[in-house]
Amino acid sequence: MDKFYITTAIDYVNGPPHIGHAYEKILTDIIARHFRQRRFDTYFLTGTDEHGTKIEKTAACNNMKPQEFCDSIVQIFKNAWQLLSVDYDGFIRTTDDFHEKAVQDIFQKLLDKGDIYKARYAGIYCPGCECFLNERDLAEDGLCPDHQAKPQEVEEENYFFKLSKYKDKIKEHIKNNPEFILPAFRANEVINQLEDTEDISVSRHKCAVSWGIPVPNDEDQVIYVWIDALSNYITALGYGSDDNENFNRYWPADVHMIGKDILKFHSIYWISILMALEVELPKTILAHGWITVDQTKMSKSVGNVISPGYILENFNLPNADAARYYLATCASLGRDGNYNDEDFKLKVNADLANNLGNLLNRTLNMLIKYFDGNVNESIITKQDDNKLAELCKTTSDKVKEEFNGYKIAEAAEAIFTLVNEANKYVNDKAPWALAKNEDTKNECGQVLYNVLETLRQVSIMLFPYIPNISSEMWEQLAQECDAACQTWDDLYWGGLKAGRIASKETVKPVFLRLDSEVAGKEKKKKVSG
Ligand code: MSP
Repeated sequence: MDKFYITTAIDYVNGPPHIGHAYEKILTDIIARHFRQRRFDTYFLTGTDEHGTKIEKTAACNNMKPQEFCDSIVQIFKNAWQLLSVDYDGFIRTTDDFHEKAVQDIFQKLLDKGDIYKARYAGIYCPGCECFLNERDLAEDGLCPDHQAKPQEVEEENYFFKLSKYKDKIKEHIKNNPEFILPAFRANEVINQLEDTEDISVSRHKCAVSWGIPVPNDEDQVIYVWIDALSNYITALGYGSDDNENFNRYWPADVHMIGKDILKFHSIYWISILMALEVELPKTILAHGWITVDQTKMSKSVGNVISPGYILENFNLPNADAARYYLATCASLGRDGNYNDEDFKLKVNADLANNLGNLLNRTLNMLIKYFDGNVNESIITKQDDNKLAELCKTTSDKVKEEFNGYKIAEAAEAIFTLVNEANKYVNDKAPWALAKNEDTKNECGQVLYNVLETLRQVSIMLFPYIPNISSEMWEQLAQECDAACQTWDDLYWGGLKAGRIASKETVKPVFLRLDSEVAGKEKKKKVSG
C-alpha cells in the first residue's frame, strides 16, 4: 500500500481560529479523504504553534500563565476542526514534551555539525512575523508591510544557522523538481527570495523571549520559533525518539499545505534544515492563497474577522458541508478566495440544493411512483453504449488526475459537470412521459437507473468535500455500507443493486435551500429556542 503524508501549518494560539485557518484545514482534509478513498495509507497532521513573544504577551494580558492560556485556546481550535468535520490523524502541540526534547536534539545535532554557530547580531525584528527583517523588507514608511508596525531594533548574541551553505542546493532542487513548489508560479518567487537570504538567527536571548524551548547547555538562550515550529513535521512522527515507526512509515511528507505568506520559511528555512540533518525532503510544498471577507483582508480593526463556525451559525446549518464545499471551490488552490454571505447562498443553493439534491429527490420519487421504489433486474443497464456510464468513467479519471495535482476546485467542477449532464439527461429523456406507456415503461426504469447509479458514484466522489450530505445520499440509495467506507474501487458501473431502495418515508431532501420555507422555520425555531 502506498503511503500519503499530508500536513498543515500549525497555527499560532495567540487568539482563536478564524475562517482563514479553517480554509487551510478544510483543503487539507479534502485531499486526505480523497487519498484515503484511493487506499493510500494516509496520515494527516495538524496542530498548534505555542511558543514566542506574541503568545507570552497575550497570555499576560489575560492574566494567565502561557501554558494555561495555550491549553484554553487549543481546545477552541480542536472544537472548530470537529465542527468542520476535519478528520486529522495527529495533532501536535509545540509544547508537547516529546516535541521539545526532539527539537533540542535537532538543535544539538546542527551545533555538532558546525551548521549552527554563535555570533553577535544587530538588526531589526518584527514580533508580528516572529522574525528578523532586512531594511529592504520594510515599506516606505519604515513599517513592516504585513503588520503595519515599526520593527524593534535588536542587538543580541544569538545562535545562527548556516543557511547560506545550502542556497545553491535548494535552487537546484527547485529547478529540477517542478512539483516541489505548487502552484508552479510561486517557484520563481522563492528563487528570487533565495538570492536575498543570509544565515538566519535560530535563538533569542531569554530576556527577549522566555516562552520557548531552551537551547541545550546554554541557559541564556531560547530556541527561536521557526526552527521549533517547522520541526513539528518530523517530531510528530517520532523523529529522534525511540519510537520512530511512524517516521519510517510516512516520511517524507507528500504535501506540506501552507499559506502563501509562510512559503519562504518552508521552502528555504525548513528545506535547508532538512538538508543539514540529512533527512529526505518533502515532495510538495503547496501554498494556498488567502481568504478575504467581502473582498477585504480580515482584520480586527476593520471588524470583519469571521470565526470558523460563522457560516454554520449564520445559516443555521446542521453540518459544515456547505461551508466546506464553498471554501474548497471559491478559488483555484493557490489563488486568493473570497467569502461573501450572498455569494455563498447563491452557490450552495444552485449546486447542492438544486443540481444535486433535487436530482436525487425527484429521481427517487419517480422510482417510487412508477416502480414502487424497486430497482428491478430488468432496468439495470450495462456500461456499453450508455452516455452517463461513459461520463462517470471520464469524470472519475479526471477527478483523480486533478487531485494528483491537488486541484480540488477543478475536481469539484468536473463532478458538478457530471451532475449537470445527469440533469439534462433526465429532462431530455422525460421518464414521466415514458412511464405512461407500457411499451416504454422499462425504458423509463432504465433512465432512472442510469441517473441513480450516476448519483451513487457522485456521492463517492463528493464524499471528501461533503461527507455528511454524501452519507445521506448513500443511505437514501440504500447501499449496504456507509459512504465513508467506499473507495475508488467502487466507482464502476452497476454498483447500484437490484431491490427495493426507496419509499416515501426514506426519501427527503439532502440539502435544504437556504432561505427556503423549511430552512426558515428551522432557523426561527433555533433563535426562539
Ligand atoms: N505558526 C505559523 C506557522 C508555522 S508552520 C510550521 C503561522 N501561524 S498562523 O496562525 O499565523 O497561520 C497559520 C496558517 O493559516 C498559515 O498557513 C497561514 O497562511 C494561514 N492563514 C492565516 N490567515 C489566513 C487567511 N486569511 N486566509 C487563508 N489562510 C490564512 O504562520
